[in-house]
Amino acid sequence: MIITIDGPSGAGKTSLAKSLARRLGIIYLDSGALYRAITLEALKKGFDKDRIIKSILPGLKLTIKIAEKMRLWINGEEITEEIRNPEVTREIWWVCRIPQVREKVNNILREYARNRNVVVEGRDMGSVVFPHASYKIYLTASLEERARRRCKELKEKGKEAHFTQVKNAIEERDKRDSKRKLAPLTVPKGALFIDNTHLSIEETIDQILAFINRDEN
Ligand code: DC
Repeated sequence: MIITIDGPSGAGKTSLAKSLARRLGIIYLDSGALYRAITLEALKKGFDKDRIIKSILPGLKLTIKIAEKMRLWINGEEITEEIRNPEVTREIWWVCRIPQVREKVNNILREYARNRNVVVEGRDMGSVVFPHASYKIYLTASLEERARRRCKELKEKGKEAHFTQVKNAIEERDKRDSKRKLAPLTVPKGALFIDNTHLSIEETIDQILAFINRDEN
């Protein structure tokens, strides 16, 4: 069984996907983490688009291990935490627009999901990568609410957060994710659309379980 969860930054996809996977006893997979891994490698090496295509992708060895959480290694080195660096978040937009990068990530995801039950989150999981998924969810929330949640998250990590700056950064990512030519953020065909601005994770999960059960009864 494959369940896809797509939606804009800060909609709560990660918390939801993790909780849902736990509830269903299946694996949680984060596609954004793979784009982050390739971006991190490009930044470390100071590579541009052409060198990513010629020198990183061909020999790329990405290892995924999923137990409590998803952990990632690139060519033998663990990068689970490092891929969350703000520099990666800032620079990822141009890396994830490279067709060869998307193809590589899509192949890794499909290979990993083969013969496994997974909840996979991203921007194009239901529309491009797993169009035949068992269930597709599109999760969103108002821009203000997403910015508020992101600020709370940053503050909990002891980091500074200015609401307007955070809101503007999210708005910019929304634009880049939904306006790009290749695999833009969109509501996949057949997806359950959930606006969780006023919903808790539990209430959101209940809606998804009702969607899944209604189908199975
Ligand atoms: O989910 P995230 O914020 O870690 O994703 C980081 C970036 O990766 C996001 O700005 C868009 C890109 N991304 C993508 O293009 N396609 C995906 N399936 C997942 C993420």
